[in-house]
Amino acid sequence: MQTVTTIADLRRQVSLRRQSGARIALVPTMGNLHAGHLQLLEAAKQHADRVVVSIFVNPLQFGDASGGDFERYPRTFEADRQKLVESGADLLFFPSQEEMYPAGVENVTRVEVPGISDILCGVSRPGHFVGVATVVTKFFNMVQPDVAVFGEKDYQQLLVIRRVTAELCFPIEVFGVPTVREAGGLAMSSRNQYLSAEERQRAAALYRTLQAAKERLISGEGDIAAIESDAEKILNEAGFCPEYFTVCRADDLQPATVADTALVILAAAWLGEARLIDNIQFQR
Ligand code: PAF
Repeated sequence: MQTVTTIADLRRQVSLRRQSGARIALVPTMGNLHAGHLQLLEAAKQHADRVVVSIFVNPLQFGDASGGDFERYPRTFEADRQKLVESGADLLFFPSQEEMYPAGVENVTRVEVPGISDILCGVSRPGHFVGVATVVTKFFNMVQPDVAVFGEKDYQQLLVIRRVTAELCFPIEVFGVPTVREAGGLAMSSRNQYLSAEERQRAAALYRTLQAAKERLISGEGDIAAIESDAEKILNEAGFCPEYFTVCRADDLQPATVADTALVILAAAWLGEARLIDNIQFQR
């Protein structure tokens, strides 16, 4: 696996691969790779001949309200590189902040997806999805992949990226990959390492609460507001500070009504120092 740090080298290497007719997949990451990321890589290998992975902790998506989240985000380059070699990635792009934002983060041209970026996680993290949409657009333009792969754990992010892809006319197929979970059900995330051993056990309650709400909806209960508020109560009792627990339409994240059938329940909740997000999608 080759590692490049400049956009010029990235373009050169991608174009060499393309000349031999290879179909290119892109897996953008912020590093600190775990089994969830490696699953993205597996999916990428199924849809393409060569897999380009980027590792870049993107300052633009953290924002002023992140309370030092950008600075403390785990940076584990050597371990990540090794995992990518073992998993069959072909090219690693590891740019500096100056390479990505030569005029500075403040001055960069931004990509905004209105509406969907301002709800749910967008409420407590203003500007977050502008940061995501902007950096993903830059990666799409740099690599021009045939396919790009993202995790469904960040469900709102995935919908934002699907809209960027469609509305900015990128000829890229975007794949979402189901969330990889620990044995108790906790969704794998780089932020899980902010949990103590005891909190990690307790954190599994988030997924259990999502599953319980799903069961109630599938069994035909129609009082969605009661299901949501019961879930928040359970999370509070389990020691979480919930930001939201909400039943939405799966395609546009608008509040679900009893008439909707394609649903996603999304939750964000703090447990100690960790802000956890999770979701569950289903038809009823
Ligand atoms: O999901 C992530 O790791 C990041 O938001 C992404 C898509 C790599 C953009 O920085």
